[in-house]
Amino acid sequence: MQTILITGGAGFIGSHVVRLFVNNYPDCRIVNLDKLTYAGNLENLRDVENAPNYTFEKGDIVDADFIFSLFEKYNFDGVIHLAAESHVDRSIANPMEFINANVIGTVNLLNAAKHFWKDISGKRFYHISTDEVYGSLGADGLFTETTAYDPRSPYSAAKASSDHFVRAWFHTYNLPVVISNCSNNYGPNQFPEKLLPLFINNIVNMKPLPVYGKGENIRDWLYVIDHAKAIDLIYHKGKIGETYNIGGHNEWKNIDLIKVLCKIMDKKLGREPGTSETLISYVKDRAGHDMRYAIDASKIKKELGWVPSLQFEEGLDKTIDWYLANKKWMDNVTSGEYQNYYKDQYENR
Ligand code: NAD
Ligand code: TYD
Repeated sequence: MQTILITGGAGFIGSHVVRLFVNNYPDCRIVNLDKLTYAGNLENLRDVENAPNYTFEKGDIVDADFIFSLFEKYNFDGVIHLAAESHVDRSIANPMEFINANVIGTVNLLNAAKHFWKDISGKRFYHISTDEVYGSLGADGLFTETTAYDPRSPYSAAKASSDHFVRAWFHTYNLPVVISNCSNNYGPNQFPEKLLPLFINNIVNMKPLPVYGKGENIRDWLYVIDHAKAIDLIYHKGKIGETYNIGGHNEWKNIDLIKVLCKIMDKKLGREPGTSETLISYVKDRAGHDMRYAIDASKIKKELGWVPSLQFEEGLDKTIDWYLANKKWMDNVTSGEYQNYYKDQYENR
């Protein structure tokens, strides 16, 4: 029986990856390691927590001794590394937390894998990264796997650094690594600090929708389960030492996306058309706000046959329905500390 360590499995993307692996690979033991920060939530995994091939371990990837003891205990065959601090705005306020979790945490995992994997046959260290490492695009062009790194936020600089360390462990120590860099994800279980769940929740509660700057920045949106499927494919079929870009071919200017969201929400909530749009409030821009991200995902399509399965309209509809049906989830994650975050980030902006 293979044993795979998934880090950050209680978070947004990680929970979808854990669910997919637990359900699709019953002969494979999945160990989910998560520190359960504000973004980690075991509620995200209630439907698989009793599966015989699933184990949860609470712990911090920054703690090297703990990571070594975990490798000793489970003798992992593979690692899928998602644990990270993930929100750009928080990285601007607290960069050290990002350097610790994203850089030191990743190097601790690399060191443990290198130490315990004397025989590398069948082993794989898969690092999940972001397109934000490539920096900011102008009106034209797409990020490819060979685009030079040019990170601009503390978040993307820490992720870029972790990518470099992963490649260094491949070239220097022959660790069998693979990396993917994905565009903006959306879907169920995303913490309401990121654009879509934040705005859905604010619309429900008739609170202002804080659009940074003029709302002209562009992101390339991908449904989270399509990302999880790409991760499955790359883990099993990706070539050692390679990088794969993953994206939705689905670029939206923030303000256009927000207006579409407002229209759908009015319909679903039975409100007068135009009600939600009145909540739009232009606020001070994010420092160093990257203008545009867009992924060229032709390599993963050509080499592994992956394309997004969901049209954006369908994905957005499913996502909104999930948040409307899971009010308790939203109430839980927005109680307590979240209220202070929200005040600092938006009310005192
Ligand atoms: P998230 O913030 O929802 O979840 C992160 C998880 O990691 C949480 O469960 C948290 O508790 C855990 N974690 C954080 N620090 C930890 C530590 N020191 N030790 C152990 N666990 C820790 O993030 P997400 O949006 O699901 O992103 C997951 C990964 O995917 C990240 O590496 C992120 O950089 C990458 N990514 C995200 C996106 C996106 O759009 N969200 C896009 C591309 C890549
Ligand atoms: P976000 O979801 O934080 O993802 P990222 O910064 O990693 O791309 O933000 C998506 C876009 O939405 C980004 O251009 C910033 C913008 N944004 C707002 O305008 N207002 C908000 O309150 C948030 C959270 C984001």
